[in-house]
Amino acid sequence: MQLIRTVAELPDIEALPRIPRPNRILLVEPEFYDVEYVINPHMAAYVEGVDRLLARQQWLSLRRAYETLSDPVEVLPGEPFLPDFVFTANQALPVPPGLLAEGPSAVLSIMKSSRRQPEIRPYAAALEERGLHLERLDPYVVRAFEGTGDGSWHPERALLLGGVGPRSTTAAYERISAWTGVPVVLLELTDPRFYHLDTCLSPIDSQCALYYPGAFTDEGVALIEAVYPEAIAVQEAEAVNMVCNGHCPDGQHFLVHPGCPSTFAALEARGLEIVLLDTSEYLKSGGSVFCMKLHYWS
Ligand code: ARG
Repeated sequence: MQLIRTVAELPDIEALPRIPRPNRILLVEPEFYDVEYVINPHMAAYVEGVDRLLARQQWLSLRRAYETLSDPVEVLPGEPFLPDFVFTANQALPVPPGLLAEGPSAVLSIMKSSRRQPEIRPYAAALEERGLHLERLDPYVVRAFEGTGDGSWHPERALLLGGVGPRSTTAAYERISAWTGVPVVLLELTDPRFYHLDTCLSPIDSQCALYYPGAFTDEGVALIEAVYPEAIAVQEAEAVNMVCNGHCPDGQHFLVHPGCPSTFAALEARGLEIVLLDTSEYLKSGGSVFCMKLHYWS
């Protein structure tokens, strides 16, 4: 088990085993999506304030974008009374084949909010149906862990970056590191607006990630810059517009909510193509493109 809290503790990343890119996308139909309770600051102003028809249209555009650009897309039905079930990034952490089991696998989440805990059962059933080996964290040891909301794989190496604080605890990463042998870089989240790591860090390629420095401790910023030597620091206004919740599925495209010209220019200068997807109705719940899909290994 290896947890990394300082730059001095970082391993030589180039010497870590390579991992493949994930090759499937999982979405949930938004028929029950809404803002019905407040579990992050973004939701406070929007209880029952979602335009549900627009939300459906935005989700269909996102689905179409993934179907056109990316890996095969699987779609699950929504679940009544589970308005956040559409945020499929949160209920599990997929693990590259060979680390947790021979084939594709995932660690199921323990949702911090009791309102979201019932999402795990139908989600686990769907992953099992798709042949994934599942591991469960012990709820007596791990208070909370929210999947790829906080667990962020390095795009090329067997290295996990783990957000700690609002939704996930260090104990979760102790277990995951012990099970997989993968070192985990712990990143404490310090600003309640950026309650998941995927709201303030977005891996692009082996050298580059977008990140918002204001959401991390000084040591966290140093760790991100050491792991991603060409990391791009985004401005607060663009971070609040959830630019770090964009998603780069393939090293070539960046799927993202519109309105962040400085960050888009920096990514275009690296050769990325920006694919705009309006997610205004999901921002009301504190989520955007990255949260709305699970990218997993099949
Ligand atoms: N309303 C959801 C929550 O607060 C939004 C989750 C967004 N997901 C994410 N990975 N940031 O749990």
